[in-house]
Amino acid sequence: MNTEIKNPFLVSGYAGENYFCNRKKETDALLKNVNGNLNTTLFAIRRVGKTGLVKHVFHKLERQKKALCIYTDIFATKNLREFTNTLATAIYNKLPENRGLGKKITEFIKRLRPVISYDPLTGSPEVSVDFSKNSGYEKTIQQLFEFLNSQNTKIVIAIDEFQQITHYPEKNTEAFLRTHIQSLKNTVFIFCGSNHKLMYEMFNNAKRPFYASCANMNLDYIKTSDYAGFISKQFAAHRRKITPEAIEFILEWTYCHTYYTQFLCNRLYESAGKNCTLGDVLAVCEQIHNQEEGIYYQYRNMLTQSQWNLLKAVAIDERIHRPNGKDFIHKHKLGAISSINRSIESLLEKELIHKAVNVPEPYYMMNDKFLMRWLQRK
Ligand SMILES: Nc1ncnc2c1ncn2[C@@H]1O[C@H](COP(=O)(O)OP(=O)(O)O)[C@@H](O)[C@H]1O
Ligand SMILES: [Mg+2]
Repeated sequence: MNTEIKNPFLVSGYAGENYFCNRKKETDALLKNVNGNLNTTLFAIRRVGKTGLVKHVFHKLERQKKALCIYTDIFATKNLREFTNTLATAIYNKLPENRGLGKKITEFIKRLRPVISYDPLTGSPEVSVDFSKNSGYEKTIQQLFEFLNSQNTKIVIAIDEFQQITHYPEKNTEAFLRTHIQSLKNTVFIFCGSNHKLMYEMFNNAKRPFYASCANMNLDYIKTSDYAGFISKQFAAHRRKITPEAIEFILEWTYCHTYYTQFLCNRLYESAGKNCTLGDVLAVCEQIHNQEEGIYYQYRNMLTQSQWNLLKAVAIDERIHRPNGKDFIHKHKLGAISSINRSIESLLEKELIHKAVNVPEPYYMMNDKFLMRWLQRK
C-alpha cells in the first residue's frame, strides 16, 4: 500500500490499515458473514464509513488471497441497463490483478460484445454492453452471475448505495435480482446503503423480495476512546504531539462523525506545528467555517423560513426526540405542528437531517456536523 502519504488523516479513499481507525468488531463480523456465505446489508448515514469498512474488509480478504473482491457504486445508475453496465465494468476492471480468472472473464465479456471506452479523467476502462445485440440485460446479469458462480474462487461483490435500485423504472428489479442472487453458491454480497428508510423497507418488509435474506449490520459512529487513541497515534507516528484537550474537543465538536473528524484532523495536521494545542484546533474550526460559509448561505436561500428555523433549532438542541413536542416548539418559537412536520420531511429529503432509529429512543439530528456547529453560533 501507499507509504508516501504525508497527511495521515484521509478524507477520501482507503490506503491500508495504518490510516484506518479501529472498526475491529465490524470487520470481524463482515469477514464471518463472507466466510459463511451470508449476504450482509450495511446501513449507516452518509460519511460514517460504510465504503471505508468495505474497502478495509476487501483489503484483508485479498491479502489473505481468500476471495476475489468486486466493489461497485450504483449511486449514479438510473435503470437496470446502467446497473448491468456498472457491474460489468467493475468486474472487468478487476481483471489485471487476477490473470487466470481475468482471462476467462475477458473472453466471457467479449461474447457480450461490449463497447469498451476509457474514462477521460482516470483512464480506466468502462464497459457498456450493447443489449440490442444480446438477449437483453436481464439475461446478461444472469450470465454474469452464472459465470462468476462457475469459478472455483470465492467472490465477494459489494454494491454501494444499493437503495438506488428502488428508483429504477423496471418494476421487478428487486425480485429479479433476488432470484439470481439466491442461486449463487460461491458469491457473497454486501449491500450498502445510506437511506435507512429505503434500505430498511427493502430488507425487512415481509412483502418485499429481499425480506430476511441478509444479515443486517448498522454502522455506528466510532467510539470516542478508539478515535482518541487513533488521533494521538497518527500524530506520534509522525513525531508530533497533540494535547488530550485538543483531541477531546475535536471529537466532541465533530461528534465522532468519521468524515468530519478526519477532515478537521487533516486540516489541523497541515496547519499546526510539532505541538498541537486546543488553540490550534479552534483556529482550524474557524477556518473551516470561513471556507464553507458561502455554501451555508446557499442552503439558507434554498430553504423556506420555517425550514431554516427548524434546521437551526435541530442544530442547537443536537438530538431531537420529539420535534413536534411542546417544549421544543416553545423554546425555538416554531410555528404550527403541521408546518413543522412538513419541514421535517423536506429536511430529511434534502439530507440535511436524518432520523437515527437504531437506538432505544429514536432522534433527529443534522448530517453535516460543521454546519451544525456554525448554526449554533449564529
Ligand atoms: N475507520 C476509519 N478510519 C479513518 N478514516 C475513515 C474510517 N472510515 C472511513 N474513513 C474516512 O471517512 C470518510 C467517510 O467515509 P466513507 O467510507 O466514505 O463513508 P460512507 O461510505 O458511509 O459515506 C472517508 O474520507 C474515509 O476515508
Ligand atoms: Mg459510501
